[in-house]
Amino acid sequence: MSESELRHAFPKGGASWPDLKAEMAEYSADDADWRHGRVPMFVFKNDAETQDIGRNAFFEYFTENGLGGTRAFHGVGRMEREVLDYGLALFEAPDTGVGVFSPGGSESIFIAVKAARDAYRARAGAAQLGLNIVMPVSAHAAFDKAAQTMDLEIRRAPLRPDMRVDIAALGALVDDCTMLIVGSAPCYPHGVVDPLEQLSDMAVDRDVWLHVDACVGGWILPFYRRNGREVGPFDFTLPGVRSLSADLHKFGFCPKPASTVFFRDRADQERAQFVADAWPSGVFRTATLAGTRPAGAVAAAWAVLNHLGSVGYARAADRLATMTDAYVADIQAIDGMQMWAKPDMSLINFGSHIHDMTKVAAQMTQRGWLTTLTRRPVGIHIMMSLLHEEPRQQYVADLRAAVHASASDTPVPNMASTGYAS
Ligand SMILES: Cc1ncc(COP(=O)(O)O)c(C=O)c1O
Repeated sequence: MSESELRHAFPKGGASWPDLKAEMAEYSADDADWRHGRVPMFVFKNDAETQDIGRNAFFEYFTENGLGGTRAFHGVGRMEREVLDYGLALFEAPDTGVGVFSPGGSESIFIAVKAARDAYRARAGAAQLGLNIVMPVSAHAAFDKAAQTMDLEIRRAPLRPDMRVDIAALGALVDDCTMLIVGSAPCYPHGVVDPLEQLSDMAVDRDVWLHVDACVGGWILPFYRRNGREVGPFDFTLPGVRSLSADLHKFGFCPKPASTVFFRDRADQERAQFVADAWPSGVFRTATLAGTRPAGAVAAAWAVLNHLGSVGYARAADRLATMTDAYVADIQAIDGMQMWAKPDMSLINFGSHIHDMTKVAAQMTQRGWLTTLTRRPVGIHIMMSLLHEEPRQQYVADLRAAVHASASDTPVPNMASTGYAS
């Protein structure tokens, strides 16, 4: 059969909702079991009430468009401004600070990179091409996306043994064409916060824009701190921080797609805007790459933030921290297993000098745990949410069995992936 004969034919239509729903369920019958904490990323659920509130708010504004938040959907525009105000307060932005609601972490990063590039180019006598971004090897691949799109070079600095970026090595990569330095709070692969105070000092000394990627930690780490957990500054209290990204749809527990990016100064946010006016419809200006955006995500974020508030986030932070401590202790109690870093949040990465982690991961996959590996060092990586609380004992028991079985096992190819490609 040819490729086109294998394609699905355009539907005739007329399917009823019950039939569609049943068919959808059938399509998803062998999905990974995220509801029981068997997926190491992708899904962040708080409690059932918070999920219902987010869903209900989303569907109240299902048809409106976030793009029309200023001109048509005033309620949506107001909720968006309030959510951004909450973030400006949480991240201690000065009066000049401004935020943008975006459809995801990658886009928040894209927006910040564009602003930083244009700010660099606006300097008198600045190079316009051949610009670079200097960042830890552990920084998220979203920066590579932005760099590939905007023709920028990425320079990745190595990590110290505690998996935070090596400041001296990073500094050595900075030159006159460096338009941006990046630090993570925390980084995805190891769950640790980079030495941001030192990065901030460097940014000030060398007059380079510093972006903090707090896509993972932004909306929850302040509550770790309020609970008495040690969390270094990662926000606008650091003078070198010029922009910061923080995802609502991760540890803000808001429905997807929802992220935020904040700027110390309005002029920087204006640089990030996309403006076009050559076409017949006049000036088209958006703060995001996206034009049409789901208004439901804005309403849902507003509702979830007002439902959880500082009490709800502090409780979630406490549960996440307690759960992570318990996982760490249990995993380290397994012979030969060790954490590759002491996590600052609920992202863990562990491996072994004696066990073959590829085989262990394959064994875990066989036991029904979607498992991802990092490279160098090879480690099992889990971005744990509250969904991982309940299955801890089962996970640890299976891990112990997997380690035991892997000692005599041959690797099962392609059972564990090293990435999270869709
Ligand atoms: C540290 C970090 N930054 C950025 C992103 C990108 O976020 P998104 O998947 O919402 O685009 C992620 C995603 O996991 C991340 O872990």
